[in-house]
Formats: sequence, structure tokens, C-alpha cells
Amino acid sequence: MGETAEQARNEEVTMEEIVALCKRRGFIFPSSEIYGGLGSTYDYGHYGVLLKNNVKAEWWRAMVGDRDDIVALDSAILQHPRVWEASGHLEGFTDPLVDCRTCKLRFRADKLEDAQCGQKPSKHPGEGPDCDLTDPRQFNLMFETHVGPVAGEGSEVYLRPETAQGIFINFKNVLQFARRKPPFGIAQVGKSFRNEITPGNFIFRTREFEQMEMEFFVPPDEADEWYQRWIEERRRWYEELGIRPDFLRVRPHDADELSHYSSATSDVEYLFPIGWSELEGIANRGDFDLTQHARFSGEKLEYFDQQTKERYVPHVIEPAAGADRATLAFLVDSYDAEEVEGRQRTVLRLHPRLAPVKVAVLPLVSKEGMPEKAREVYESLRRRLPAEFDEGGSIGKRYRRQDEIGTPWGVTVDGQTMEDDTVTLRDRDSLEQVRVPIEGLGEELAGRLEQPWRTPKLG
Ligand code: GAP
Repeated sequence: MGETAEQARNEEVTMEEIVALCKRRGFIFPSSEIYGGLGSTYDYGHYGVLLKNNVKAEWWRAMVGDRDDIVALDSAILQHPRVWEASGHLEGFTDPLVDCRTCKLRFRADKLEDAQCGQKPSKHPGEGPDCDLTDPRQFNLMFETHVGPVAGEGSEVYLRPETAQGIFINFKNVLQFARRKPPFGIAQVGKSFRNEITPGNFIFRTREFEQMEMEFFVPPDEADEWYQRWIEERRRWYEELGIRPDFLRVRPHDADELSHYSSATSDVEYLFPIGWSELEGIANRGDFDLTQHARFSGEKLEYFDQQTKERYVPHVIEPAAGADRATLAFLVDSYDAEEVEGRQRTVLRLHPRLAPVKVAVLPLVSKEGMPEKAREVYESLRRRLPAEFDEGGSIGKRYRRQDEIGTPWGVTVDGQTMEDDTVTLRDRDSLEQVRVPIEGLGEELAGRLEQPWRTPKLG
């Protein structure tokens, strides 16, 4: 790439274009829209659900399908309140907050230079003459609610702010019932909740989001090695799914950035339209969590090696990713706009395995038996892979619609199909059209889906 990634980023796509495409094509909508919306919450529509499901499926494939040292878990969102005492979240999961007495807005005290004053949006809070900021106070990011019909002392619980703790409190279960020995991992995907003071940038930072987390339990002397291995594994995962290497980087945390539980953390960052930002964190959590839960619960959370008679508390390496944030990165990185034969085309060059729809079946015209024939082809294809039948509007319009949702292949039923049972197969990226027999089409496409893929943006 001749220009820097930063220069290319500015020319390629803005966050506004991504938001507009998501709305236009039914990926993601602002939540509660008919009531005026609820800030920074989003609803996923049909293609958004399919895309995010594919992101999560690829994560599961990498964690559980492709290896045999990680097991799956789905723990409850509501957990015993002592969990959050032991984990340190009750005391330490806070951001410093200031209120402005004039505009009534709240800001993170450590991010004032990124925020905008509510009275004078061209300035930062504290800069305008009208600003009247309070002293910072610590604000806990956990959402509190109550169990049972009576609100009050003893009924408070929290919506989990990370999926990780559900894994630590099940360590003993997995050790016993899945009969695992370190190194082994427990993986979980699910919703987490944080009362973020400054959510924003579309689905990048919201108060309700999905995490994909894996806790990898290792003998203490193997922790450093596994930490490095997981950083590389996770960077590779994004690249194999099509993110361009120049738009990805690994950034080790400075000592003053580390979370209370971490002895080392590296972020996999993506160059979003808002700049380099965290996609995923890989942390060396040491024995912090198991030791804390053992202390608070009174249970032994350790591993006893029958052969060496050695007893130890495993150390933990944690790759922690966000499903929404990864989905946003795949949308941004795949977005492309080009002119083809004098017409503008917007296309999502998504990895075929991530694409919400793999193949669209289109009758060339709505007559001469073509819609019926196309429906037959569609019915047989959809048994093999996610397919869509589309007969509304001109063929050009339908291709453009499919390009915008990232459908890698288009099958057109035309006059020749009615004579020789062949169709045209169009490739989303090269726009090449080849004539292929209907028989064996499903197999052909299923085979293509399993091929390694490289984004055409890399040339
Ligand atoms: N268990 C460790 C942990 O939760 P984190 O860095 O706070 O670490 C992990 O979160 C990932 O979850 C982040 O890298 C990000 O992808 C996602 N995430 C965190 N907060 C988020 C938010 N408010 N909105 C969307 N995604 C978020």
C-alpha cells in the first residue's frame, strides 16, 4: 500500500456511511425508534442478526470446532452478588465522573479532551466560560437490579459486566465433569452490560453488548508462553476472516492502563473511522480470579496432578472480544464503493463465511417460466447454504441490493436456462459471470465456501 493505512482509512468510508448502509439494508436500527430512540442502544435486523451470528459461529469454530482443549459454557447473566465482590468489580469497576451544573451533562473526568461541552459543542467540557464542573467522583459501571418482588436490602443483584466471571465460578464443575487438566480453556458468548458514561460511535461502545470470552487455564510457568500464543492466534483470526493486516495492530498496555486483575494485557486494535481502537484484549490474569473466588466462596479452586502429586492454582490467559465490535470492524473493512460501467456500486466484500446470504437466485425477468424455475433452483440450494430468492425490480437493481449486503454469489435464471438447465453464476468481487449446470451447483458453492479467502482489496 503506497499511502499509509490512516490516509486510506479517511478516503475509504466514514462511520456515517456505515450507519446509513446498516439502516438502508436492514442490518442495524436505532433501538426504540418509534419512541424517539434510547441513546446508544441498537436493534439488529435480519441481515445484522445473520452477520453477527456468523461472526460468533466463526469464533466458536476457532475455539471449539478446530481444537480439542476448550469446552463451551453458557452461564447466567444474574449471579450471586458475592461474585462481584470477589472479582473486584464492586469496588474497582468504576470510571471517574464529573457533572456540569450548567448543561447537566456527565463526562468522564479522564476523557474530557475527547468530550464536547453541552453548552458550546465546539469546546471541551471545562473550557467554556459557562462550564461549572463538579469534582470527580467514582461511578460504578455495573447495572443494579433486584430479585424477587421486594426491593431493598439483600435483594440487589447486578447484570454481569463481563462474561468471564461466569467461567471462573464454574471452574470446578468443568474440572470434575469435563475431566480436564491444564492447559485447557472454557469459552462463552453472551450479553454483558455496562452503564458506560460515554457510549457512542454506533455499536462500538454501547451499554448492552455481546462478548466472546475464553479463559485458558495453564500451569503457572507456561503463562507467558500462552499469553504470546493467544495474541498471535487472535490476530490471525481477524486476518483469516478478511481484515487487512495494515488495519490491525497489537498494542501492549502501559502499566498504568492495566486492569486490577491483569499483569499484562495487549489489545488487538483496528483502524476504525474513529481511529485506532480496541477490538479485543488478551490479558494475563494470573491466579487473581481463582484465588479470589476460593477465598470468598470457601471452595478449593485448584488443580491436583495425580501423577506428579503437585497441587497448584492455574494461571489464566484471557482473549476477550466483543461480537458487536468485531461485526463493526468486518462491516467497515469490507465496505467498498466503485464505479462500474458508469454506475456507482456499493459492495460489502465480506468473507463468504461471514456474508449473511451466500447466494441469491434471480429470475432474469418475471415471465416465460423463469420465476418458477428460479424458485426451484432456490429451493434446492437453500438446503445446502443460506440463499435468497429475489424477483422484485430490474436485474441491475437486484444485483446492487445483493452487493450491498455482501452476497458473494448470484445465480441468474434466463432464457438459456429454460433450454439447457444451465444458469449464470456471478461473482460479487470480480463481477465475472460463468455458465454452469444447475446440477452440482449446490456442491460447487458449498465447496467454494470452504476455500481459504483473501480480500480483493489487497489486490
Ligand atoms: N473480561 C475482560 C473484559 O471484559 P474488556 O476489554 O473490558 O475486557 C472485552 O472487554 C471486549 O468486550 C472489548 O475488547 C470490546 O470488544 C468488548 N466491549 C467492552 N465494552 C464494550 C461496550 N461498552 N460496547 C461494546 N463492546 C464492548
